[in-house]
Amino acid sequence: MTKRVLTGINTTGTLHIGNYVGAIRPAIQDSRNPDVESYFFLADLHALIKCQDPDRIERSRMQIAATWLAAGLDPERVVFYRQSDIPEIPTLAWMLACSTAKGQMNRAHAYKAAVDVAEAAGKDPDADVSMGLFCYPILMAADILIFNADEVPVGHDQLQHLEMARDVATRFNYTYAKPNEPFFTLPQATGGSAIEVLPGLDGRKMSKSYNNVIPLFEGGRKALDEAISRIVTDSKLPGEPKDPDSTSLTVIYDAFATTEESAAFRKSLCEGLGWGEAKKQLADKIDAEIGPMRERYEALMAHPEELEAILQAGAAKARKHTSAFLARLQHAVGLRSFAPLVQPKKAEKKAQKVVAVFKQYREKDNRFYFKLAFEGRELFVSQGFDSGRDAGQWVGRLKKDSSTLTDAPITFADGVTKEDVIAALNTFKED
Ligand code: TRP
Repeated sequence: MTKRVLTGINTTGTLHIGNYVGAIRPAIQDSRNPDVESYFFLADLHALIKCQDPDRIERSRMQIAATWLAAGLDPERVVFYRQSDIPEIPTLAWMLACSTAKGQMNRAHAYKAAVDVAEAAGKDPDADVSMGLFCYPILMAADILIFNADEVPVGHDQLQHLEMARDVATRFNYTYAKPNEPFFTLPQATGGSAIEVLPGLDGRKMSKSYNNVIPLFEGGRKALDEAISRIVTDSKLPGEPKDPDSTSLTVIYDAFATTEESAAFRKSLCEGLGWGEAKKQLADKIDAEIGPMRERYEALMAHPEELEAILQAGAAKARKHTSAFLARLQHAVGLRSFAPLVQPKKAEKKAQKVVAVFKQYREKDNRFYFKLAFEGRELFVSQGFDSGRDAGQWVGRLKKDSSTLTDAPITFADGVTKEDVIAALNTFKED
């Protein structure tokens, strides 16, 4: 059975090769597994929580969309979309919020961290907490639950959010679903193939906040060389034997090389390869892999309309699922169309009702007549009128009020009673 794997991508900040090695590359590899139905999306509604600079929001999500595509994400094979293009997600988030206890959200790490920081600074505990931040886990639950994802590859810091998504789903199922027909699958957190941590220039985890990153595409080869030149090593001279484990250079090399290439690189260092030369080899190695991607990246960034078309197509694919599913959920909570309650009844009545038929016509004597038929029987014929209008007026009167029958200039057919005619005329009554 194919499983559904959903990957959420933050759209803040620019990416470095630690992101590429630890998250992007393995996720793209996993997406090629034929047993997996992959959903990838840009969490741009979440991005609004951290950033209120519209230009940065715009630029970041474009860069990040282009990065994933350039790195090989195939939008034909996976569903790749922006969260903000799927209106069913925030609608579901609201529905989930309404059946989730606030106390449960009070326990969220990100919220508590913001409170701790404010308190430490002597401020009101909620001083730096927007409702967006507070509701972050619910929006994230909606991201996942609207697709009924089986697995969500996430890092350690997101495990609690996955747990919350499961709780929120369970609560909603319990409130609205029949016992054995839950609406939501409970999603599993997985590590994907590797959420490994790449060391940065100084050996600590590569992270923007440590200012120790090697940029992925931004700045081109020049920026790559420049960052690599800053990798911390000892000051051994070319020709002196070096300890390959004394620097993050070799670990970064490993991430782009085969086992044999890594072994050869280490051996050269032990045999005296200069740091400068080693750095050049590392830069070449990385560039061999990401150079062609960088070209695709730059081409995409130069054609935002192509990116837009790809993401619109992705949103259309995603919404095929989400709009049908949200309709079911709305029905479940009672947000239902009024129409089905009224229309079938009306239709039923119409179908049952057989109406009598007036016919107006002209005879050879050039005069105007009308007659009434009901259930295949002719009930009466009128006298002749000089004008069609007069005949028509009688028809109108009779349809409206069967008591006018008494004065009507008509002749009943054989065997027809007044009651038969009144019953026929009553079929014109509106109900
Ligand atoms: N919170 C995730 C992160 O910081 C991003 C994200 C938003 C996400 N919605 C998601 C991840 C849904 C997985 C599924 O990395």
